[in-house]
Amino acid sequence: MVNLKVKVGDLSLENPLIAASGTFGFGREMAEFFNISTLGGISTKGFTRLPKIGNPAPRVAECDCGMLNAVGLQNPGLDVVLEEELPFMRSQNATIIANIAGETMEDYIFLTEQLQSQDLAAIELNLSCPNVKQGCMTFGSDPVAIEELTHQCAKRSRHPLWIKLTPNVTSIAEMAKAAEQGGATAVSLINTLLGMVIDVQTRRPILRNNTGGYSGPAVKPVALRMVSEVYHAVSIPVVGMGGISSAEDVAAFMIAGAAAVQIGTGLLVEPSLPWKILEELPALCQELQVDNIADLTGTLELWN
Ligand SMILES: Cc1cc2nc3c(=O)[nH]c(=O)nc-3n(C[C@H](O)[C@H](O)[C@H](O)COP(=O)(O)O)c2cc1C
Repeated sequence: MVNLKVKVGDLSLENPLIAASGTFGFGREMAEFFNISTLGGISTKGFTRLPKIGNPAPRVAECDCGMLNAVGLQNPGLDVVLEEELPFMRSQNATIIANIAGETMEDYIFLTEQLQSQDLAAIELNLSCPNVKQGCMTFGSDPVAIEELTHQCAKRSRHPLWIKLTPNVTSIAEMAKAAEQGGATAVSLINTLLGMVIDVQTRRPILRNNTGGYSGPAVKPVALRMVSEVYHAVSIPVVGMGGISSAEDVAAFMIAGAAAVQIGTGLLVEPSLPWKILEELPALCQELQVDNIADLTGTLELWN
């Protein structure tokens, strides 16, 4: 019997598969077809203090080996999340990771405080969305801001605090160290890579926002490199993501150093993907000669 349980710090998860923020909503559509309680966790759509309508369309575009999105954090806002979405997720016995975003430090602090009465597995601070003009990636590219923001939220939170990092920086290891210094329980990475797709006929970007976040299989090698780098730079756990679409991908992220993983774009392509991977993981673990999937974490042997 292969044991799929993993730990992210003190938090135990039934298995390492977490639905990535923004690709699973709050689980309502998926719960009609799948038992969403069997996932290791669900990172909610990123929500803000007030409702957001997001960016104008077109805001998603399929492209080579992945997709670009500039959704711009469309969400119903904190009140609706507290009154309707989190209760729904709880009614389904989902393991909830609340993904939050803000424009100012006060926004993040306010949201963290408001979530303290909730039953959550973790809070994930999105310091990495490339599709909004203020906050998020602006904070996530500045180690001083990351450390301060993490510190302010960590000292107010009884829940584990995960800091979600952007790959759109020179050194993601430096950003991860700042999060660790600020008191983060874990870091999650990567968010999307800032990109652009162009319509040559109109000579305009396809996305109305001009730029968007690139995700899917194409970003996987970048994500694996970053997970490996961050794993060696910090001693807090790493939650890895970026282009995962198979059991082998999950194993690769764990070997690179991830304690758990998130699946995003893969879910949009094939909604049953995490359940398919869950079925395949025990056989893969046997092939890789581990009884506990957690034993894969950080076993990468780099060449000298
Ligand atoms: C349509 C879409 C919406 C997203 N929204 C969010 C979000 O609200 N908050 C967040 O932290 N990440 C968001 N992300 C980023 C994903 O959670 C993930 O970090 C990224 O897509 C890389 O993983 P993947 O290649 O498996 O999709 C979004 C991604 C997509 C494709």
